[in-house]
Amino acid sequence: MRQRETLARELTTARDRTLRLVDFDDAELHRQYDPLMSPLVWDLAHIGWQEELWLLRGNNPGRPGLLDPAVERCYDAFLNSRASRVDLPLLSPAEARSYCSTVRNKALDSLDALSTDADEFTFGLVISHENQHDETMLQALNLRTGPPLLDRGAPLPPGRPGVAGASVLVPAGEFVLGVDAVTEPHSLDNERCAHVVDVPAFRIGTVPVTNGEWRQFIDDGGYDDQRWWSERGWVHRQEADLRAPQFWNVSGDLAGTRTRFGHIEDIPADEPVQHITFFEAEAYASWAGARLPTEQEWEKACAWDPAVNARRRYPWGASEPTAHLANLGGEALRPAPVGAYPAGASAYGAEQMLGDVWEWTTSALRPWPGFTPMLYEQYSAPFFDGDYKVLRGGSWAVAPSILRPSFRNWDHPIRRQIFSGVRLAWDVA
Ligand code: AVJ
Ligand code: FE
Repeated sequence: MRQRETLARELTTARDRTLRLVDFDDAELHRQYDPLMSPLVWDLAHIGWQEELWLLRGNNPGRPGLLDPAVERCYDAFLNSRASRVDLPLLSPAEARSYCSTVRNKALDSLDALSTDADEFTFGLVISHENQHDETMLQALNLRTGPPLLDRGAPLPPGRPGVAGASVLVPAGEFVLGVDAVTEPHSLDNERCAHVVDVPAFRIGTVPVTNGEWRQFIDDGGYDDQRWWSERGWVHRQEADLRAPQFWNVSGDLAGTRTRFGHIEDIPADEPVQHITFFEAEAYASWAGARLPTEQEWEKACAWDPAVNARRRYPWGASEPTAHLANLGGEALRPAPVGAYPAGASAYGAEQMLGDVWEWTTSALRPWPGFTPMLYEQYSAPFFDGDYKVLRGGSWAVAPSILRPSFRNWDHPIRRQIFSGVRLAWDVA
């Protein structure tokens, strides 16, 4: 069982981060930066509400809680669309902070009584949920207009020249896709069960596609050439008038720059491209004579070790992520340049598989065989039949403690406020 101290530390690390992301005045916290996002004060109280429900009320909403039932309803994500949350009678920031802290103190008390694997899983879920909302709050803050609230982010290691555009071979063969409760006790429902999959040989990008490469696609007229786009992608390209990744400034005095958390800056050529839709990723790949990887390919390239015919816990091996292995945790506020983490390479030589940007795959979100919903039954299952594409690998904003090579994220193919990028794949004859 994961140590109580470890769980307590991860809870505290997540909370410190949450509180830093809401360390603004009340008006700021009630603002809706974009209809796609909740006001920050909603995320804050929602984090506390889920924690209370899962850890203090045995996941039974019928059991009385700390909030008035009418207030509680505001924090159910399924009852309230993101666009509508700004108009709800939400707790004030002071009330939300105090509610979250009351819940957390009781949760830490209950940690002392931790006895079963199920309890341990629930704590892991709480840690994952809070950290996932921290990433959502970062997406919201990135959409905010006005003078920056956050600084430019922590320093990152330098990249290596020559790695952009390179690829590695993953020979044909079976591997184990997914994980189980024994190997990864904190894995979420959609990562299970582990099962054998045969994958034909393919090549995959050593690193994600960079801004510099994306610039060539733009300069070559990629956004105006229907040839590269799927039918749906082209319709969306026209409706949304896509011309460049989101946050790239394309006209006027600022042309050639990007806006990142309110900072206007040059676009680093060697940084993985961010804020692209699935449809743009797909178009870029066709233009480049490539395609997107499937989830199965992506996970094999990330986690399989052909020398021993077994999965690695992380691409580089068994050791926990560090600042030397991957760009995670959210402090950088941006992806690292390609080639920055040679020590983080997978067995096949793919780099930056974890951290930096979420990578679009060609796969729709579906359950693995043996899928069983976890205690948070609505986490995955409602999205299996929807129009969701899977993203892999985690962005710079993901907490290292919640990420695994098997971790699956998803979104609509038209979304790009998320920290999304792409890594190419190629068939091998
Ligand atoms: C897994 C990131 C798609 O934000 O919709 C948070 C995570 N689910 N609270 C989302 C989630 C419920 C989820 N994603
Ligand atoms: Fe949530």
